[in-house]
Amino acid sequence: MKLEGKIALVTGSSQGIGQGIAVRLATEGASIVIDYRSHPEGAEETLAKVEKAGGKCHMSGCPHSPGYIIKADLGVVSDVRRMIDESIAHFGKLDILVNNAGIERHGAFWDVTEADYDAVMNVNLKGVFFATQEMVKHLRETKRTGKIINISSVHEELPFPNFTAYCASKGGMKMLTRNLAVELGSLGITINNVAPGAIETPINTKLLNDPEKLGALVKNIPLGRLGKPEDVASLVAFLASSDADYITGATFFVDGGLLWNYQEQ
Ligand code: BGC
Repeated sequence: MKLEGKIALVTGSSQGIGQGIAVRLATEGASIVIDYRSHPEGAEETLAKVEKAGGKCHMSGCPHSPGYIIKADLGVVSDVRRMIDESIAHFGKLDILVNNAGIERHGAFWDVTEADYDAVMNVNLKGVFFATQEMVKHLRETKRTGKIINISSVHEELPFPNFTAYCASKGGMKMLTRNLAVELGSLGITINNVAPGAIETPINTKLLNDPEKLGALVKNIPLGRLGKPEDVASLVAFLASSDADYITGATFFVDGGLLWNYQEQ
């Protein structure tokens, strides 16, 4: 087990990729803080899976559950700070932060409202910024190193018409990571992006229920299928472990080859 003794917070872990990551990190021996905004039943499901995966509790006074649920809206900075502080209060420390929570809104550029723009930017970029800041303050205060992993998207590179705010947020995440790799290196804190392509998760419900669109997308994926949360989670487990100690400021694509699949017809 690669993560014995580690405490990991996975934002947005009541479903989809976040749930897959939470379970995988627990399999590697970590204790997990499960964050959700609007699906408490999903968070409970993740907790049950974390417990079954055999995650360990690293608190003094165990036995306790290896998982702990916190409700927090990543788009609200006071919630973000409380989430980090409560995680530390519960487990005594944090070693790994996975900034996974993210949302997207479909809309032609000229129809996008300020509320849509703010919703996307607040969760996908502002939340990541301030969660990372609070985590870094904790690591500095306790004079420890740590690992930050952001769940970005192929759309930190690739245009996605009708999702301009989403693409801008992921492009912003790319530069946030590069910048912080430089700024946090001397503290021994690494930060990397994992950039999924099309993964079978609730964010894609519409697409998954539209055979025509789905078929066209799968044709664009060299490996011939959508990804699964586990495909993303295994890379996150590696980046969270000491095997990845010398890796920082990088983006890793988990997309079945989607990003580089340009073909002349
Ligand atoms: C988006 C999905 C999209 C996928 C591939 C992801 O970042 O969330 O909606 O299907 O990229 O384009």
